[in-house]
Amino acid sequence: MSKKILLDKINVPGIKTYEVYRKEGGYASVEKAIKAMTPDEVVEEVKKSGLRGRGGAGFPAGMKWSFIDKKSGKPRHLVCNADESEPGTFKDRYLMEFIPHLLIEGMITSSFALGANLSYIYIRGEYMWVFKILERAIAEAKAAGWLGKNILGSGYDLELHVHCGAGAYICGEETALIESLEGKRGNPRIKPPFPAVSGLWANPTVVNNVETIASVPWIINNSGDDYAKIGIGRSTGTKLISASGHVKNPGVYEIELGLSVDEFMNSDEYLGGMSSNRPLKALVPGGSSVPILPANLIFKTANGEDRLMTYESLSDGGFATGSMLGSGGFIVYDDTACVVRNTWNFARFYHHESCGQCTPCREGTGWLEKVLWRIENGQGREEDIDLLWSIQSKIEGNTICPLGDAASWPVAAAIRHFREEFEYHVRFPERIKNRNHFVAEP
Ligand code: NAI
Ligand code: SF4
Repeated sequence: MSKKILLDKINVPGIKTYEVYRKEGGYASVEKAIKAMTPDEVVEEVKKSGLRGRGGAGFPAGMKWSFIDKKSGKPRHLVCNADESEPGTFKDRYLMEFIPHLLIEGMITSSFALGANLSYIYIRGEYMWVFKILERAIAEAKAAGWLGKNILGSGYDLELHVHCGAGAYICGEETALIESLEGKRGNPRIKPPFPAVSGLWANPTVVNNVETIASVPWIINNSGDDYAKIGIGRSTGTKLISASGHVKNPGVYEIELGLSVDEFMNSDEYLGGMSSNRPLKALVPGGSSVPILPANLIFKTANGEDRLMTYESLSDGGFATGSMLGSGGFIVYDDTACVVRNTWNFARFYHHESCGQCTPCREGTGWLEKVLWRIENGQGREEDIDLLWSIQSKIEGNTICPLGDAASWPVAAAIRHFREEFEYHVRFPERIKNRNHFVAEP
């Protein structure tokens, strides 16, 4: 049984409410941090824990916190990125919906560490009911004296607001989120400067994912060293995984990092194997932005090592860098799934969500969608597969924000591992048309 530190209390009746959450030991990390620690000591514990960003990039959280300029005299901010929109990812919603005070507690402890007096939770527009849950939790925390002026008589003040987006995926990119919070169109900014130097209203700002911030209370209540003992290597702690697709038990799971993919997929404690009793065909291990793995690379790496649920182990070998654990959106496909159709579906999404600022992304994502559409609909040409390869290679690395890479990687991986399926679509268009899933032309 994996260790649980985020979802251990999720089934306690009434845990959504302040009274029950507090009775179960909630807000202890705020008390400990404010009464017995300095802000720098809190940062040090998070550094020691090895906690890495749970939104997708896996950047060390303590290191990000230590980049904050505390000497400039400018106000500082903590912004929680709750704009969860990566296809296949729904774990932050689960946390916020069922144990909202864990996030509020993490926000207060983390804001104290950063010396932030004004912090925000930016939540995606489609999560309106969760927005209301958070608003209520913030009001309860404030009424109980955990927010506002002079918290616990310490002289530390904190205002916390929850802000609702308007339905744009790009606002999950941290600088687009900041633009949106400032009341502007959510266009990503060029980095550097990173938000830690110049973020919200040009003030030093840390942007962290919901799950990252919700991990902080456990670290402070126990210790950074204790957290670092959970997990494996540089993948410390636990991770929430949103599992979907052709498995018996889809849902949100908290796993200890380092669990084998085989155990996660096949044991009854987790996904329980394939729902269909059909062969496993492919896996997208970390949300739509990360490369698809073919069946022969799911349980073993190309070097023959066991594939593990870690930041390091889930790459398909096609890219030198990048966290392929991504946002933890684990999508499983059996042999009835069409990789071309799936790749087209992802491409359509990225084209729709591109903000349009840079040419390779704005134009390239449109071309990826168009060419994939014609292959999927039996109108593909032999040269289209190389054309797709060429388009994606011209997007990757040539854009302001990672949406461009996110659009190109799934196409590259699909061609790399399933080229024969693209060729089949081109060579046998009449068989493709007969599958009765013709899709509207872009
Ligand atoms: P990134 O690697 O550019 O940055 C990671 C974090 O580290 C950022 O907060 C950045 O400001 C900070 N950072 C990096 N170098 C720094 C430096 N030298 N000084 C100060 N701060 C520094 O990645 P990014 O753009 O934050 O995230 C991309 C990831 O987001 C993708 O891997 C994708 O999986 C994921 N994603 C997740 C979504 C979700 O719904 N959870 C949606 C879309 C993408
Ligand atoms: Fe906008 Fe795409 Fe450029 Fe990102 S990569 S800034 S989404 S056009």
